Amino acid sequence: MNNETRLSTRRSFLRGAAAGTAGVCGLPWVVPCSVFGSAAPSNRINVGCIGTGNMGFSDLQSLMNQDDTQILAVCDVNRGSGGYKTATQFLGREPARKLVDNYYAKKQRAGTYAGCAAYNDFRELLARADIDAVSITTPDHWHAIQVIQAAQAGKHIYCQKPLSLTIAEGRAMVEAVRRHKVILQTGSQYRSVERVRFACELIRNGRIGQVRRVVTSLPRHGLRSDLEAWTPTPVPDGFDYDLWLGPAPAAPYHPHRCLYTFRFFQDYACGETTNTGAHKFDVIQWALGTDHTGPVEIKDLGSEFPTTGLYDAVSTIHFRARYANGVELICTPDGVGGPGRFEGTEGVVEVGWNSVRTEPESLVNTVIGPNEIHLDQSREHKRNFLDAIRAGRDPISPIEVGHRSATICHLANIAMRLGRKLRWNPDEERFLGDDQANRLLRKPLRAPWHL
Ligand SMILES: NC(=O)c1ccc[n+]([C@@H]2O[C@H](COP(=O)([O-])OP(=O)(O)OC[C@H]3O[C@@H](n4cnc5c(N)ncnc54)[C@H](O)[C@@H]3O)[C@@H](O)[C@H]2O)c1
Repeated sequence: MNNETRLSTRRSFLRGAAAGTAGVCGLPWVVPCSVFGSAAPSNRINVGCIGTGNMGFSDLQSLMNQDDTQILAVCDVNRGSGGYKTATQFLGREPARKLVDNYYAKKQRAGTYAGCAAYNDFRELLARADIDAVSITTPDHWHAIQVIQAAQAGKHIYCQKPLSLTIAEGRAMVEAVRRHKVILQTGSQYRSVERVRFACELIRNGRIGQVRRVVTSLPRHGLRSDLEAWTPTPVPDGFDYDLWLGPAPAAPYHPHRCLYTFRFFQDYACGETTNTGAHKFDVIQWALGTDHTGPVEIKDLGSEFPTTGLYDAVSTIHFRARYANGVELICTPDGVGGPGRFEGTEGVVEVGWNSVRTEPESLVNTVIGPNEIHLDQSREHKRNFLDAIRAGRDPISPIEVGHRSATICHLANIAMRLGRKLRWNPDEERFLGDDQANRLLRKPLRAPWHL
């Protein structure tokens, strides 16, 4: 079998796995590790990493460190620069390519290795038939287009949270992933933290009686005084600003618009509502068992948006949502550090990022019995994604779950922008009797980009 035939056979196995066939009938679609060792080429999942910035480097490294993957390509519109979250980060596609090549050179005990390609345009990476899966760690305004095109190209996808920029984009992503039968894991990694799962199981199994209220909080984002009177600056060499903007409206360049701080612009994200909020609301949805639905009402409680300076996303987040069964979700600007404090008729569970505190204290020692609700288990989020590809089953944070968690961020953002109470139909994904709010379910895309 020549190399091309082997790859295409393997890729059709991966597609078969996604369609559920291999998982169901147990076909040995990969050559057993015992024959070739886990790193044998026929047994590997070939990965391309799109977006190699702050989180992209972390995603790249954790995928590269798995025994059964090979990073074949990286992609970023930034050739390489500083200016990311921390002063010491020098990131972009060339630093990423070097990291990968050095890793494999060292692993193979070869002096050099030059097998990782680096692209500016993600469409070239997606066109490669030898890539089985992609990780998408670009700013939020790119997620929908890149996920949909990756699904059309038959790639399995690890997409960072928040899954989408708008609710309409999220639904289009769900449909594309389903239509093309690929596996998608949302990068909501707290579902792979054992203490978080246990806390959710306590709540789901009624240990605090009926949940009445969930209280969480999101940080205020500091408005920088040096950006009050900003002026456009020249685009740096090696940075494809037009492709960075992509579907977002044309805007004059400023470094704080792009790398890392894009999250504080409404055209690219929703401030802390989507940044930390996507994680918190994801855990809250899991604990409440509302992964396939959402709140029915959402109300602004006095949020604040910047009126001057460069950033325009919400700076003080304050809202209340209500689910159909009466459970209230309150998000305040100060207070709760982890995903949330769940208050029930018989007790309280405070879910931290990796901890659980309960009232009464004894609850924390409870054992979930064999006939009670046990949530899906995952020890590590990337591993869970790769295992799902191999088994042809849903990972722990599949597309619909990621979409519904992101929806809460977007509902809150819309209610805070409009400054009023909105009623929401989670089945039809429409606001009730509010055309102005319904118009905010989508954002126009700059030509030639479309979903
Ligand atoms: N799961 C988590 O805990 C976690 C943590 C941080 C960030 N994130 C998510 O990761 C995503 C990226 O955040 P970040 O902090 O890494 O931002 P970042 O700005 O540091 O990195 C984004 C990178 O994407 C590149 N990029 C932009 N458009 C591109 C395109 N069309 N094709 C290829 N590359 C492109 C940028 O040049 C940049 O290098 C966001 O959605 C964010 O919410 C998740």
